[in-house]
Amino acid sequence: MPSPKVLVTGGAGFIGSHTVDLLLEKGYRVRILDNLQPRVHPRGKPSYMPKEAEFIQGDVVNQDDLSRALRGVDYVFHLAAYQDYMPDFSTFIHTNTESAALLFELIVSNRERYPVQKITFASSQAVCGEGRYLCPTCAGGINPPTVHEQLAALHSSTFHLLSSAIHIPAPRPLEQLKRGDWEIHCPDCGGVMQPVLIDEDTVSPGTAYGISKYAIELLADRLGRRYGIPTVCMRYTYVQGPRNSFYNAYSGIARRFALRLLHGLPPIIYEDGQQLRDYVNVCDVARANLLVLEDDRANFEVFNVGGGRAVTVLEFARIMLDAFDSDLEPLIPGEFRLGDTRHTVSDISKLRVLGWEPTIPVEQSVVEYIAWIRKQRGTKEYLEEAERVMREQGVIQRIDG
Ligand SMILES: NC(=O)c1ccc[n+]([C@@H]2O[C@H](COP(=O)([O-])OP(=O)(O)OC[C@H]3O[C@@H](n4cnc5c(N)ncnc54)[C@H](O)[C@@H]3O)[C@@H](O)[C@H]2O)c1
Repeated sequence: MPSPKVLVTGGAGFIGSHTVDLLLEKGYRVRILDNLQPRVHPRGKPSYMPKEAEFIQGDVVNQDDLSRALRGVDYVFHLAAYQDYMPDFSTFIHTNTESAALLFELIVSNRERYPVQKITFASSQAVCGEGRYLCPTCAGGINPPTVHEQLAALHSSTFHLLSSAIHIPAPRPLEQLKRGDWEIHCPDCGGVMQPVLIDEDTVSPGTAYGISKYAIELLADRLGRRYGIPTVCMRYTYVQGPRNSFYNAYSGIARRFALRLLHGLPPIIYEDGQQLRDYVNVCDVARANLLVLEDDRANFEVFNVGGGRAVTVLEFARIMLDAFDSDLEPLIPGEFRLGDTRHTVSDISKLRVLGWEPTIPVEQSVVEYIAWIRKQRGTKEYLEEAERVMREQGVIQRIDG
């Protein structure tokens, strides 16, 4: 019996390539469908792509490409996506959501040709928007546990007692951000609210990207159940590690800080740097992907995949400065980015029940990323590029006055 064949869309990318490596290591046969999107791979096919994986260069929204890639496949990881800060809203829906629908369309049209037994979708913490908050005043003046305390004692009784005062806020209004008022305010009393760990029931996407991912979750659940195709949706948080493309704006905090430090410049911090984030290493993510593929308890479920630790953006900058052995100080110029969230830390207890645990701390992810980016050519030409484009498009703005 040949080993099962797995299609990984977006397999040339960051999470996809690490997932491909692990699948091959575990004896699966792998096919990759990736269009080598120029904003992610301006230099073409990356050298890390393994020869043992079959590679189809094609588009996930092109019916011919997807049907060729799907033929004879047992499992699918649908990781290809358009992700950016750009205001090209329709592209998120077109690439991300339409491709997920097309996957079902093809499989349902001919189950013999497309004998897919499970699809795992890349979703995102972006589905949860600003996440969950609790208003201490409306909760009767009780001081709620901090996110750090919540992580240490998940679902403690104190935590449950306060859940009636929990809000899922809308994105912060532009006028508020222009005033440099970064925190989330209570819709009832206007007081500053405190972040609560984000569970899988939290849904409030605030961007076209987040909406495209939530639509995928709905398709995965409804069409998957209707046609008996098990699905799993993985809400990754901020994934870190080597191969995270440093060309596009989306590739985030490690790229922004590392590119500047590589060229002797201090990291620039948006807002005040106190935003809490939850970073997870790409190898831990790849292990989570394999786990849900092989465990039927994951079928038709949504899972948070995060690092289990809350780190501020300023702390992340310090971790990076230490790793560079730099004595530069981060700059906080009073800028912010439209679409950013304030505090987003995921509750990963649901995935833990399946036996998964994040194992690689942020410090190590940063060291691995720096070692990788040091080996890349032509980093200088991309140093300001993403920032310049975001400024031109009005994504990066400055506080008034
Ligand atoms: N990296 C993160 O922190 C993070 C967080 C949450 C969710 N995700 C999701 O995880 C998945 C993988 O993300 P990543 O960080 O590895 O991104 P990535 O950009 O490194 O990889 C995505 C890959 O998809 C390919 N691709 C894009 N559009 C395509 C198309 N139309 N047809 C075929 N291939 C196409 C790209 O060429 C790229 O190789 C995405 O769905 C993303 O939305 C990532």
